[in-house]
Amino acid sequence: MDPTKAATTVAAEDAAQTRRDSLTIIDNRTGKRYEIPIQHGTIRAMDLRQIKVDEADFGLMSYDPAFTNTASCKSRITYIDGEKGILRYRGYPIEELAERSTYLETAYLLIHGELPTKAQLDDWTYHITHHTFIHESIKKFLDGFHYDAHPMGMLVSTVAALSTFYEDAKDIFNPESRRKQTYRLIGKMPTLAAFSYRHSIGMPYVYPDNDLSYTGNFLNMLFKTTELKYKPNPALERALDVLFILHADHEQNCSANAMRSVGSSHVDPYSATAAATAALYGPLHGGANEAVLRMLEDIGSVNNVPAYIKRVKGGEKRLMGFGHRIYKNYDPRARIIKEIAYQVFDVMGRNPLLDIALEVERIALEDEYFVTRKLYPNVDFYTGLIYQSMGFPTTMFPVLFAIPRTSGWIAQWEEMLLDPEQKIARPRQVYLGYDQRSYIPIEHRGG
Ligand code: CMC
Repeated sequence: MDPTKAATTVAAEDAAQTRRDSLTIIDNRTGKRYEIPIQHGTIRAMDLRQIKVDEADFGLMSYDPAFTNTASCKSRITYIDGEKGILRYRGYPIEELAERSTYLETAYLLIHGELPTKAQLDDWTYHITHHTFIHESIKKFLDGFHYDAHPMGMLVSTVAALSTFYEDAKDIFNPESRRKQTYRLIGKMPTLAAFSYRHSIGMPYVYPDNDLSYTGNFLNMLFKTTELKYKPNPALERALDVLFILHADHEQNCSANAMRSVGSSHVDPYSATAAATAALYGPLHGGANEAVLRMLEDIGSVNNVPAYIKRVKGGEKRLMGFGHRIYKNYDPRARIIKEIAYQVFDVMGRNPLLDIALEVERIALEDEYFVTRKLYPNVDFYTGLIYQSMGFPTTMFPVLFAIPRTSGWIAQWEEMLLDPEQKIARPRQVYLGYDQRSYIPIEHRGG
């Protein structure tokens, strides 16, 4: 036997024998040694608590502002590999779903864990289609908003208001109740969104049309005017459906975390969805596509792009639609969306801001600042251009994100509720404020 081979084998065997799925920690304050189990590439933060200087010590905690390296749950819904640019729902690659599935089928997959049979899909589609109407009182509620109220603000409020109509929604541990609220939420979100839009432009509300598809009906409620029957353009209907598939879930993002966190108090799902929708409203999350369009308008022309990039690099601005907390290679959704953009432009004409966007992308992808920070176009970079070409005002962009994300939120919420390890979400803090001090009467507080 080759002696070097024998030596390698012995070394490997030694390594295998000493290999344990655990982490050894030596606390240099006390010299004590701890062995902490590793499971699924994580240690349990609570295992750190045993590490103490003395008995009075509270125990070690981990400090992780913005949860950049903390897993808050075990999940079987969405898988992302940010380095490789992979996104899968329940194991199915986003590219295959975008090409072959529909939004409602994908929503079923996210919530139930498997693709539906034909009968299951028909039943699912029937129930969602038959829960699209909203109570007439919600219309009165909408009428109370100022004429130029942001539709996202209206959506947050009206989805929260739904909880006051459905008392049974509080019965969150009853699977029948959860199923009913799921139909209602997925069915009614487009209606609330469309009614908010119609209110903001002073047009009469258009009631749902059950003959149309999910996205076809949404376009109907948004854009129908005097025609007796609205006929959605099939290319736009499909483009919107694919965009809805791409936006349906994205694991533990800010709004999913809000849904889980607020839902962990065992509030009804409408209130939790209102919280998630509010999280999505922010410009660093679902508000980014609106911000991208404003940025492109602000840049104004292809010639102004280099100067704008210079300001971004100088820290004056952020390049909206670029960068992602997870994707450090590319956002696989952005690639599909770029293709859809061209399909929509074929129907609606080329968006004049497209040339500015392409130039921003070209320069940024070559620039050392963006390359070294792994900043690539994200899902929001081209969606704004598509939505604008389809006739949506910028204020509707985050709303168009919230509608499909509702199915992801519901999947995340239900998984959290049924997970025996989950409790009410309640992070710890590192307190750096004053130690105890005595109250000072106002007359003794000086200038
Ligand atoms: N433009 C310029 N510089 C940026 C950008 C950007 N868009 N994003 C990150 N950076 C820089 C940042 O200044 C920092 O530089 P330095 O190391 O010199 O301080 C470095 O890159 C790392 O940034 P970070 O803020 O630590 O990254 P993060 O993971 O916390 O932020 C992000 C992720 C998405 C909030 C951020 O990239 C961003 O603000 N992007 C623009 C807004 C946007 O497009 N949001 C949509 C995200 S995708 C859809 C969604 O989730 O809703």
